[in-house]
Amino acid sequence: MELEVIRYTNKIASEAHIQVMRKIKPGMKEYQAEAIFLQYCYYVGGCRHVSYTCICGSGENGAILHYGHAAAPNDKTIYDGDMCLFDMGCSYCGYTSDISCSFPANGKFTDDQKAIYNAVLKANRGVIAAMAPGVSWVDMHILSNRLLLQELTTFGLLRGNVDDMLMANLGAVFQPHGIGHFMGLDVHDVGGYLPGQPQRPLQAGLNKLRTSRFLEAGMVITVEPGCYFIDALLEAAKQNQKHNQFFVNEVLMRFKNFGGVRIEDNVVVTETGAEVLTKVPRNIEEIEAVIKAGNAKMDDVCACDAD
Ligand code: GLY
Ligand code: MN
Ligand code: MN
Repeated sequence: MELEVIRYTNKIASEAHIQVMRKIKPGMKEYQAEAIFLQYCYYVGGCRHVSYTCICGSGENGAILHYGHAAAPNDKTIYDGDMCLFDMGCSYCGYTSDISCSFPANGKFTDDQKAIYNAVLKANRGVIAAMAPGVSWVDMHILSNRLLLQELTTFGLLRGNVDDMLMANLGAVFQPHGIGHFMGLDVHDVGGYLPGQPQRPLQAGLNKLRTSRFLEAGMVITVEPGCYFIDALLEAAKQNQKHNQFFVNEVLMRFKNFGGVRIEDNVVVTETGAEVLTKVPRNIEEIEAVIKAGNAKMDDVCACDAD
């Protein structure tokens, strides 16, 4: 029964993200995207509350992990050429959703945007495909880092051996957060570190994980790989031989104000694998088509189906 409610919060928040994609236009304020999301969740879904303050980062704000808080209230103008990183979820009867979508404000990915987006998508899909009861969440974090670093190397932003990059914790420079967390009656649900269960790892990146447990059927957890260009982390990494040996600086410099990409799904572990509860467009072609189609199809959606 709990899972049914989480399915519902995912359905409504997924539709609300799609509504935002259909209405997005350069020139809008970030808070207007937030307003579209909130309106849809309450008006259509009867979800009075969101699971956390909406994170609507555009351009360089996409590199600020919990952007949107009171001191940075989604108040930037969204410019043509910006990537949007919108992380928003609704709450129903106390049950949450926590979904991130990343797309270009003008609806057309550049080659650089495509490369970063597809690298993160590969990590997201790779982790979900590997999830099953008995699988270590620490291993999923490392798998995600491996896939991301491999893709960045193929693209030409990094050079060198991916195993060496992992040994040097390079993953934490581009993704300074865990691959995902339990979600249910709170967006960051309890139970991540329990007596008798694996404790918090110490290594950079892994130490940000909100759980290091082995997966069990029925667990609901987020899968949220990201790739961010965070000045403070990159400047430190450029001074550190452990990291700077892998950088292709002439490519890296193109991403100075890029912000970031995060692709966050809510997933339930099943007896045999994992089921994705989030239903939003994820492939570049699908995303571009939804933005292009505009809001026409959604305008007549107004019936409340919270029952
Ligand atoms: N929206 C907060 C998080 O993804 O953990
Ligand atoms: Mn999350
Ligand atoms: Mn999130």
